[in-house]
Amino acid sequence: MSSSVESLVYLPFALPPLGLASALLLVVCLALLLLRQRGNGSSIPLRQGLVSIDGQSGKVSATTTETAELDSPDKPRCLLLFGTQTGTAERFAKQLKAEMSLRYGATTNFDVVDAEEYDAASKLKEERLVIFLLATYGDGEPTDNAAELYNWTIKASAEEQDLLKDVTFAIFGLGNRQYEHFCAVGKRMHKALKDLGATPVGPRGEGDDDEDIEADFDKWRTELYDALDKCSLLTKDQEQPDITHVSATDGANPLNTVILSGEAATRVQQQQSSWNWGHPSGQNGQGAKPQDSFMATVQCVRELHKPASDRSCLHVELNTEGSSMDYAAGDHVGVYTINPPAAVEEAARLLNLPLDTVFSLEATDSSSSNIDNPFTGPTTLQAALTHHADLLAPINKAAVQAFAALAKGSSADKLQRLLSKDGAQEWKAWHRQSRCLLEVMREFPDVQPSLGAFFGSIAPKLQVRFYSISSSPLPHPRSIHITCAYIDEPTPTGRQHKGVCSQHFGRLKPGDRVSAFVRRSPMHLPQNSSNAVIMIGPGTGLAPFRGFLQDRASQMASGKSLGPAWLFFGCRSKTQDYIYEEELADYQSSGALTQLSVAFSRNGPNKVYVQDHMLKHGSELAALIEGQQTAHVYVCGDAKHMAKDVHKALQTMLQQHKSCSAAEAEAAIQSLADSGRYMRDVW
Ligand SMILES: Cc1cc2nc3c(=O)[nH]c(=O)nc-3n(C[C@H](O)[C@H](O)[C@H](O)COP(=O)(O)OP(=O)(O)OC[C@H]3O[C@@H](n4cnc5c(N)ncnc54)[C@H](O)[C@@H]3O)c2cc1C
Ligand SMILES: NC(=O)c1ccc[n+]([C@@H]2O[C@H](COP(=O)([O-])OP(=O)(O)OC[C@H]3O[C@@H](n4cnc5c(N)ncnc54)[C@H](OP(=O)(O)O)[C@@H]3O)[C@@H](O)[C@H]2O)c1
Ligand SMILES: Cc1cc2nc3c(=O)[nH]c(=O)nc-3n(C[C@H](O)[C@H](O)[C@H](O)COP(=O)(O)O)c2cc1C
Repeated sequence: MSSSVESLVYLPFALPPLGLASALLLVVCLALLLLRQRGNGSSIPLRQGLVSIDGQSGKVSATTTETAELDSPDKPRCLLLFGTQTGTAERFAKQLKAEMSLRYGATTNFDVVDAEEYDAASKLKEERLVIFLLATYGDGEPTDNAAELYNWTIKASAEEQDLLKDVTFAIFGLGNRQYEHFCAVGKRMHKALKDLGATPVGPRGEGDDDEDIEADFDKWRTELYDALDKCSLLTKDQEQPDITHVSATDGANPLNTVILSGEAATRVQQQQSSWNWGHPSGQNGQGAKPQDSFMATVQCVRELHKPASDRSCLHVELNTEGSSMDYAAGDHVGVYTINPPAAVEEAARLLNLPLDTVFSLEATDSSSSNIDNPFTGPTTLQAALTHHADLLAPINKAAVQAFAALAKGSSADKLQRLLSKDGAQEWKAWHRQSRCLLEVMREFPDVQPSLGAFFGSIAPKLQVRFYSISSSPLPHPRSIHITCAYIDEPTPTGRQHKGVCSQHFGRLKPGDRVSAFVRRSPMHLPQNSSNAVIMIGPGTGLAPFRGFLQDRASQMASGKSLGPAWLFFGCRSKTQDYIYEEELADYQSSGALTQLSVAFSRNGPNKVYVQDHMLKHGSELAALIEGQQTAHVYVCGDAKHMAKDVHKALQTMLQQHKSCSAAEAEAAIQSLADSGRYMRDVW
């Protein structure tokens, strides 16, 4: 059967832009030739110019890539290691590589490496210069991909002193000041590396994504370059300006768009229309390893709030029959969410292409190796927009930069000003309004990126959503339950934001498919079932404890004797959002739950929260923790306020019970945490 794939790069579609493009191409080539001649004083060719043409916009841009000589294995390398969950640290690492290659590339190679792919135990001591970009998650913990690197470094630092004496390093920690342990991973890694004898260069960076993380990154790297210019490890290319801030994708059209037609296109359209908006394992393109993910069938979706509530919380059951997935109560499930159809349709309209366009993306040149090709094969625009592009989350600066690079006329003026130094105040205001990509496209409909530019450098990847599994495999070995608070809130631009995954769950019907995977969590029931359990989980924080209670009920039914279990739950009122009320009552009657304490926050004139109930039962709880029953304390739910307040209550309780100072009570909590008896699953 003959294939009718038309490998058409967009460029040939539009003859007038081609004419213009050819002329510009010539000019750029001449300019590059002149530049190279200027650089001839150096025996090492600095950069080789490449020209890329965005066929749709007709934009010609000079990009640079490393020549074979620059990539010479003889040159020492600088390693850029990133630990990320949602991609910011990786983006920053690639941006640093692009800039540093321009600035110091004559004498050094720059390698961006995923922390997960790096064997620190055997290799770190042999590096010369390492730049770490590490995000903090959970309860001040590393990202999944950096966990091994982090654990190894912390452990080694307690055992060795000058293992890394020949290594110079810099760290930029990514975090959010609203969380209790702001940039904890960056801070702890900095200390551990110093303890291992490594030498820091430049200041330790901290990026706060509650404010302007891009501005924090700009400031840190400017200071880092100053410090690196002064140290002997790197040689600055004198041709380059003092501060070069370029993005990994600045002005480049990193991926060419290949449009398919005929039979090949029809095949893709037919295949993808049967996806039912879940997609087969391995085709999610959202970062998880295919072997980790499975297609689950939706068993049921039901509302947990009572009719009097003006909010919503959904109970979702996913059947995992046919997959090799297993889980424990307390684990997380990652869900590959999808965009709502209305947003997908609007994005296609703004891109000026029909939803059934079938295309694939191809790297334009070796510099495109910095850019992830999100698709392993041809796809329809509908599937690409549905599964891959983050259309609705607040847009980041790099995406705006890549979008602005394609703008012309007044749109270009407006966007360039926004991104310039003079536009700093405007950018701050823009940033605070948290516009999403769709809103930016709506505001500048004349900016028409090619699909290569759109998916390669503008649209961030749609992120996996995690949920604390609210079931136990004992009664539900082939089913995973999720308890999801439905997000529906106004954004600063006045748009009502319905959470992407909340909406996704809200649209699901029994029989629909969802792509998901299980992530292990350290928060499990005590191994010794006679230990007491204290669970604190208001709102959706109840989720893992429903799993714990199912587990305990099954264990009891099989004749196991269990220690006491206390649950502190909180919600607004009994008549609105007391979720799983009947189930909790049943667990109490069966003895799986020894004591249930519910704080209704909006029943009276004053707010009553879980921590108020904990303090009321302070001496009993402290006795459970300090006494024979060696209670394990678990907290789940909101990290920004609840978890901090509950921590304070725990401290007050122990202080009163032990008649000790606040510092001593805090030390007691720390020792509980160290022994795995104080665990928090907070987000
Ligand atoms: C380990 C872990 C466990 C979790 N467990 C649970 C659980 O059991 N139950 C649960 O309900 N959740 C849980 N979450 C949270 C969950 O992962 C999702 O974050 C949550 O469901 C919201 O996702 P969403 O796609 O519906 O909302 P999103 O669309 O991601 O929106 C999330 C927030 O960002 C804001 N936002 C988004 N876009 C914009 C914009 N353009 N402008 C302004 N603001 C915007 C929204 O208003 C909202 O506050 C957990 C998270 C983690 C990390
Ligand atoms: N970013 C996300 O993706 C996401 C997803 C889900 C939930 N959340 C957030 O997580 C939190 C929990 O959401 P939810 O729907 O599960 O619960 P919720 O219904 O918002 O809150 C549950 C109960 O906790 C109370 N509460 C508020 N502040 C508290 C504090 N400092 N200490 C103890 N209790 C407190 C609430 O009281 P009052 O409301 O009366 O003050 C309510 O009674 C919310 O803040 C929500 O915005 C975020
Ligand atoms: C569920 C969750 C937990 C987080 N926990 C912390 C934390 O404990 N401390 C902190 O400083 N930042 C915390 N953050 C903020 C992230 O570190 C921050 O958003 C960072 O920019 C993410 O980088 P990444 O995109 O590379 O993953 C948390 C964010 C989320 C979504």
